[in-house]
Amino acid sequence: MHYGADYNPEQWPEEVWPEDVARMQEAGVTMVSLGIFSWARIQPSEHEFDFAWLDRIIGLLHEGGIAVDLATATASPPPWATVAYPEMLAADENGTPYWHGSRQHYAPSSPAYRGLAAALVTKIAERYAAHPAVVLWHVNNEYGCHLNIDYSDAARDAFRRWLQRRYDTIDAVNKAWGTMFWSQRYSSFAEVFPPRHAPYSHNPGQLLDYRRFTSDMLLECYRVERDIIRAAGAGQPITTNFMGAFKPVNYAQWAGELDVISDDLYPDPNDPESFREGAFHGDLMRSLKPGTPWLLMEQASNAVNWRPTNAPKAPGQLAAQSVQAVARGADGILFFQWRQSRAGSEKFHSGMLPHAGTATRTWQEVVALGRELDALPDLPADDGSARVAILLDWENWWAIENPDHPVPLDYLSLVRGWYDAAHRLHVQVDLLPPTADLAPYDVVLAPHLYLLTAQAAATLRSFVEAGGHLLVTAFTDVVDEHDRFRPGGFGTQLRDLLGVVIEDFGALVPTESTAPGQQYAQVAGEGIAFAGSLLAEEVHAVDAEVLARFEGGRGDGRPAFTTAARGAGRAYYLATVPDQAGAEQLLRQVLAGAGVDPVLPGLPPMVEAIRRGRLLTVINHGADEARVVVRGRDALGGGEVDGVTLQPFDYALVLTDH
Ligand code: GLA
Repeated sequence: MHYGADYNPEQWPEEVWPEDVARMQEAGVTMVSLGIFSWARIQPSEHEFDFAWLDRIIGLLHEGGIAVDLATATASPPPWATVAYPEMLAADENGTPYWHGSRQHYAPSSPAYRGLAAALVTKIAERYAAHPAVVLWHVNNEYGCHLNIDYSDAARDAFRRWLQRRYDTIDAVNKAWGTMFWSQRYSSFAEVFPPRHAPYSHNPGQLLDYRRFTSDMLLECYRVERDIIRAAGAGQPITTNFMGAFKPVNYAQWAGELDVISDDLYPDPNDPESFREGAFHGDLMRSLKPGTPWLLMEQASNAVNWRPTNAPKAPGQLAAQSVQAVARGADGILFFQWRQSRAGSEKFHSGMLPHAGTATRTWQEVVALGRELDALPDLPADDGSARVAILLDWENWWAIENPDHPVPLDYLSLVRGWYDAAHRLHVQVDLLPPTADLAPYDVVLAPHLYLLTAQAAATLRSFVEAGGHLLVTAFTDVVDEHDRFRPGGFGTQLRDLLGVVIEDFGALVPTESTAPGQQYAQVAGEGIAFAGSLLAEEVHAVDAEVLARFEGGRGDGRPAFTTAARGAGRAYYLATVPDQAGAEQLLRQVLAGAGVDPVLPGLPPMVEAIRRGRLLTVINHGADEARVVVRGRDALGGGEVDGVTLQPFDYALVLTDH
């Protein structure tokens, strides 16, 4: 179990370093991430490298028994670099550059940036590949953060090359994008530009490909650095830090390229429901690389600096959130950052060691957490505890949020709606791409797979035929991988499986000022009564049983929720977006049909229970005391457990016979 933080010793005089190491030992720190923003310090000018200071601090840490997660320092190029090579600056939709003076201002496709980054990483990797302190490599930092999409000339040139590799001929691009529309036909790759500022809607196929290209360019940057590290003879695992479900970067596609998944997580301490975000992050990270423990690479010990208002964490909240990650498969809890900065825009961001010193609640909680993590027994990575999978697909995310649709849909919040419903029902879930192996699961939720590939459709069909229970929700199977309608209407690939035909999407206007009945559609059936929003599709149940219907409004009496037995399994279709109560009602029915039970019965909604092999973790995130029936042995102390009473932010770590 790693414990530690980003460590930025270059922000401090060297006299402070020995005290840092001593304090790290006191806090139980085992590993720090070093050098993430050190490019300017390591390379003060193009032909000058200074590693003496880095040698000294790595040596000090090593002597102190603290391991190093060594960064490649490429996330924030120094001013000399962008002055010498202004073509490496990223640009916005108008072509206006993002200047240095902040961070992460580089154009990922820029040959100048890549050249300088490669030279730097080569030096670092060659120098430290065999250093005994280095146990992990930290490539770049939060790829795609701040600057989600780059429209620079470097991106323009790289996009043309990317298209040529993908499509071979410009005619294939024309076909994929449907450029006969609005006279958009291209006669050569040199006529294609990034989707820069334009008078009206861009071509949706081009927007989708630009998203793919953006994720691919960042992945190329990652691969270049990783390969340099390996070529230098480094054998340590390599990672780069993810940010939960982050739209610009297709983590499902990236995961195979990382040895260890790591995540940065900053739930708002002021939001009593934000612990579900932590749960979602953890489940996603675990699912990205099944069987391999992940690292919580960054979290805050207390307040952050970047929300409009930055509330502190409540007493105990830090430990509860950390244990939540461990319960979901993390084998390391790290912070941004070790010592609170004294200058710069993050000086109000908390650290493990606060500016106010060690006579602080933050320090006490940090030290106590270090002890607790140290006392944990070795934990298995994941024994496949989840019986339920929720599908999350980046390509669909990009396509479904293209403009000019019946109603704007926020894909992540819709997926989170289902995830949160499962979480409130205390059911453990994995989060998977639609082409994953679904055989181990009893229930699969497939919310809003607007872009559904033939391969994904086949995976869903086989899952049901083999005995799985599948819930598909509105606006699914609408377009192909180029964001074009398929011939023959909508839902063409899943029609037989679901037994429904979709005639129209029935957009509901999502604003308060709308006429009654246009914003929500009431849905009613046995044990079902809720308000649907956003879509109330006109659906014909041709070979499915109707479990609930729309009531009132323009869709009065039409099917809203259907089911069909297929093969050894069952397929459900929901023609709208349920509110919170509705999602829980429907999910309960689907889970009951498949015989899936909660991790523990009878838990209040603000208490969560998670299994990681034999470890059962129960956490009270609510404001009230909770009594939980659970039996086993205390994982920290070893005593028998027969029921626990949990105060707010209390948790129990129980080894069970499961
Ligand atoms: C991100 C970055 C860190 C720091 C934190 C602040 O996660 O990776 O460098 O800026 O945010 O919360």
